[in-house]
Amino acid sequence: MIRLENVSKKFEINGKENTVIKDINLSIYKREIFGLVGETGSGKSTILRLMNGFIKPDDGNIYLMGEKLNRKTRHQLVKDTSMIFQGFNLLSNLNVIDNVLLPTKIRKGSKKENINRAKELLSFVGLEDFHQSTIRTLSGGQKQRVAIARTLITNPKIIFCDEPTSALDDKMSFEILRLLKDINEKFGTTIVIVSHDISVIKALCNRVAIIENGRIEDIISLKTKEIKPVSYKEALLGDD
Ligand SMILES: Nc1ncnc2c1ncn2[C@@H]1O[C@H](COP(=O)(O)OP(=O)(O)OP(=O)(O)O)[C@@H](O)[C@H]1O
Ligand SMILES: [Mg+2]
Repeated sequence: MIRLENVSKKFEINGKENTVIKDINLSIYKREIFGLVGETGSGKSTILRLMNGFIKPDDGNIYLMGEKLNRKTRHQLVKDTSMIFQGFNLLSNLNVIDNVLLPTKIRKGSKKENINRAKELLSFVGLEDFHQSTIRTLSGGQKQRVAIARTLITNPKIIFCDEPTSALDDKMSFEILRLLKDINEKFGTTIVIVSHDISVIKALCNRVAIIENGRIEDIISLKTKEIKPVSYKEALLGDD
């Protein structure tokens, strides 16, 4: 589904060229939930931005859905991907449903069908009563669910998530993780998630790459666990 072949990326920092991604080889399979963990500054977000075509590698090749990402294919391939951020990236001057409809404004399609689909997706993410709400009246978890509904309206084959639960408390995080898992199971969407939170990675991912100083230090397969909410008390007293 996603393949990185000898990918390197340099940035100019204070007038000096710095190679931040160093000769990475990685294959992520269809329907997989793949994690990227590592210390701050190790290159996780940069790898995600390379995969979703935001930035170009200096060396190596990237393949999405079996096709090489280049100037000619980028537009078409990137249309089948979507991104979720820590900060939600919603437009606060639009209400909930208009935020979800935003990606349809630049695509063809019937307005009525789009509105029906947006409503369906808002129900799917548990926000059926919030269509007309303004963004600032929502909790963090609700905002992230709006962002997820907006992501789904384009039927992405791949969803990239950069620290999607970092701004949320444990209960909200659990709800978002459950939702991502449901999306993966229901729509067969491939998910790549960056998180510094090991419990998030362990709850969600089939495999995870440990990134160290721009390199893949190791790739580990994980047993999927049932995602269940844990109370503060259980979390404090449990040994996991
Ligand atoms: N646009 C840019 N210009 C210059 N340097 C950059 C740019 N983007 C990233 N870097 C540098 O690349 C390195 C990797 O950054 P990246 O954001 O990928 O790390 P990260 O693993 O996502 O960190 P964090 O966990 O803090 O989000 C850092 O040293 C960063 O300063
Ligand atoms: Mg980052």
